[in-house]
Amino acid sequence: MNQTTYIQQLPKVELHLHIEGSLEPEMMFALARRNKISLPFTSTEEVKSAYEFNDLQSFLDIYYQGANVLTHEIDFYDLTWAYLLRCQQDNVLHTEIFFDPQTHTERGIAFDTVINGIHKALEDGREKLGITSCIIMCFLRHLDEESAFLTLEQALPHKDKIIGVGLDSSELGHPPEKFARVFTKAHQEGFLAVAHAGEEGPVSNIYDSLELLKVHRIDHGVRCADDSSLVAQLAQSRMPLTVCPLSNTKLKVFAQMRDHNLVELLRQGLCVTINSDDPAYFGGYMTDNFLAIAQSHDVTNEELAQFTRNAIEASFISEEEKTQLMEKLNVFTG
Ligand code: HPA
Ligand code: ZN
Repeated sequence: MNQTTYIQQLPKVELHLHIEGSLEPEMMFALARRNKISLPFTSTEEVKSAYEFNDLQSFLDIYYQGANVLTHEIDFYDLTWAYLLRCQQDNVLHTEIFFDPQTHTERGIAFDTVINGIHKALEDGREKLGITSCIIMCFLRHLDEESAFLTLEQALPHKDKIIGVGLDSSELGHPPEKFARVFTKAHQEGFLAVAHAGEEGPVSNIYDSLELLKVHRIDHGVRCADDSSLVAQLAQSRMPLTVCPLSNTKLKVFAQMRDHNLVELLRQGLCVTINSDDPAYFGGYMTDNFLAIAQSHDVTNEELAQFTRNAIEASFISEEEKTQLMEKLNVFTG
């Protein structure tokens, strides 16, 4: 089997996916029409040509604008269902997805509308596609602490559907300490925790996410390479990094894919995983991200399978479910 086929067939687990970032231009137009919302674009081609980003902020501006078409529960259902069908194509067996409640509640969409639409699709995905999943809700770090506390309050009646909290949006200027008290409360309420850190921001954001937010995984985290003692600490503790190769090159965290450091970090013993982040905006889903790395790095099939092993290890499912996934992976790797 050649490496492309190996990658396509490799069982995968996704741990870093913003459901709003899976909104393809075609669905954006369909929902705009259905909900009578006007878009600043006249065609899907025009939308796609606007997806040229210089940095994280230039992406976020267009990403939040796109999310405006999501209005009713069925919209969130359709969005999530379309993503699950892509998971099926890419052999993704389990996925832990983010949503950004404030992107919707800030424009008057009820928290319940959002979570119920996403959750129903994930339930159907479990039943009809055999894909298991968890939901993580992210606080937007460009908004204030009070808004995050309010969002946490809104999530409490949905504890059965939400496994953890995360932190995303503009990293520069919005360090973890801004949300330390919210995360403390989230832990008290029984939520697990993750945070975007060390994507564009400095290594201090990784240290502070670990110490102040007590996260179980770091989202991105690739800038840890700036600090060798942090790399050693991450390797020793097996702290997972949810790395997103196509995102990192699109947002110019790395100039070219061959400059990406995730294979090196994997070889240094870190629990590195491969993920798609915002696939509709960055040019690819899980398989595309694996292929992009394999095409630009000399990486073995065993190393590619190790990314899935790491993702199973880093997932928020029970030990029993982890064992089941490892068994499926072992059947594939032989
Ligand atoms: N970084 C921060 N916030 C985000 C991202 C990201 O890569 N994608 C969606 N929201
Ligand atoms: Zn992200």
